[in-house]
Amino acid sequence: MLGGRLPPDCRETDGDARPPFSFLCSPPTELIIFHPVSPKKRIAIIPGDGIGPEVIAEAVKVVQASRAGVEMTHFDWSANRYLADGVTVPPDGFAMLERDFDAILLGAFGDPRVPSNIHAKEILLGMRFRMDLYANVRPVRLLDASLCPLKGVEPRDIDFVVVRENTEGVYVDAGGVFKTGTPDEVAVQEDINTRKGVERVVRYAFEYCERHKKHDGAPRQRVLMCDKSNAMTYAGGLWQRVFKEVGREYPQITSQHMYVDALCTQMVRDPRQFDVIVTNNMFGDIITDLAAGLQGGLGMAASGNIHPGKTSMFEPVHGSAPPIAGKNIANPLGAILTSAMMLAHLGLTREAEEIEAVVLEAVRQKKTTQDIGGSLGTREAGEWVAKRVAG
Ligand code: NAD
Ligand code: IPM
Ligand code: MN
Repeated sequence: MLGGRLPPDCRETDGDARPPFSFLCSPPTELIIFHPVSPKKRIAIIPGDGIGPEVIAEAVKVVQASRAGVEMTHFDWSANRYLADGVTVPPDGFAMLERDFDAILLGAFGDPRVPSNIHAKEILLGMRFRMDLYANVRPVRLLDASLCPLKGVEPRDIDFVVVRENTEGVYVDAGGVFKTGTPDEVAVQEDINTRKGVERVVRYAFEYCERHKKHDGAPRQRVLMCDKSNAMTYAGGLWQRVFKEVGREYPQITSQHMYVDALCTQMVRDPRQFDVIVTNNMFGDIITDLAAGLQGGLGMAASGNIHPGKTSMFEPVHGSAPPIAGKNIANPLGAILTSAMMLAHLGLTREAEEIEAVVLEAVRQKKTTQDIGGSLGTREAGEWVAKRVAG
């Protein structure tokens, strides 16, 4: 979109289309610079609890340093807010996010003062479910060999993505209890799997595989579905059938299957074999904490909660880590990489790549927090990245 009308007899110059655009005019020959009003991307920031606000503050600093065309609005949805006024999500909160924002950047939720975890359930799981963010995309990428607890593993060996179903499964929390508190007590927890829900996330995984190369430029060639269909036959059967059907639409991609228990061994024994893994909500939660261990720990892992074409949400994989909250020791790189993922999703690719490159440099130079071998605090590690991104 242009910020002014073109003077008569002017044409747009070739070359880099990024602002400011320049126009050559004649006669008389002169160069007029127009600053187009490219609409800024609107981002909702919800830092949450514990280390959430600490790491999100650094991610915000880095996004600002990148000069990405964004405007950020902060929301206080958290345990503090819940304890103060009983509100988890304000009325119409999700509709407002969908209407007024292009993306959401979230910290983490969970506070010992709210043992029911009701606010986390309503804010975090509520957002995933009510905004129908069905694909939880969790990249697993080793930035430097020093971060991996496995022997002889190089960055090129760990570069896969877990696509976790994000709106169904046992997370629906359907069920009930019976004869509570008696020796005959019964608890039922249902596992909800719909054809629509399974099919769309499996297709997302194949599309992702087709469209996203590895960081060394190699194509992704395999989608692996993991389940527990040998024991959970009804849900597993649906996943198996749908995976085979959708896989036939992508003959150039190899479809593979592993039971989730076997997958855990393989992720540790030979993580080189994975390109894209798709799985249900609960298995996806568990294997991505294991996968975070391969990348340098929970402080390094990023994620996006995505519904293509709708306002999507981005959050580090880690939680609120109450024991280390407020001590300036939490690793902000997972949150910073998450913000890069968000910018890339919004089409701000140059800024996203710049941030990722600086994070890589921080890891290599050990300008990091202690959990990954550095000696900086949360703020200092964030500032190191922000300064170089700005530079
Ligand atoms: P956690 O991710 O908060 O912490 C697990 C371990 O990893 C702890 O040792 C912690 O110190 C460490 N860790 C996590 N993030 C780190 C970081 N950025 N830098 C350095 N170390 C880091 O998981 P938990 O202890 O199981 O849960 C704590 C709370 O967080 C609970 O209330 C839980 O429900 C919640 N939680 C929330 C989310 C979320 O909001 N997305 C995710 C996971 C857990
Ligand atoms: C995650 C977290 C959440 C989940 C919790 C906090 C409900 O562990 O995002 O991985 O299980 O999805
Ligand atoms: Mn988790």
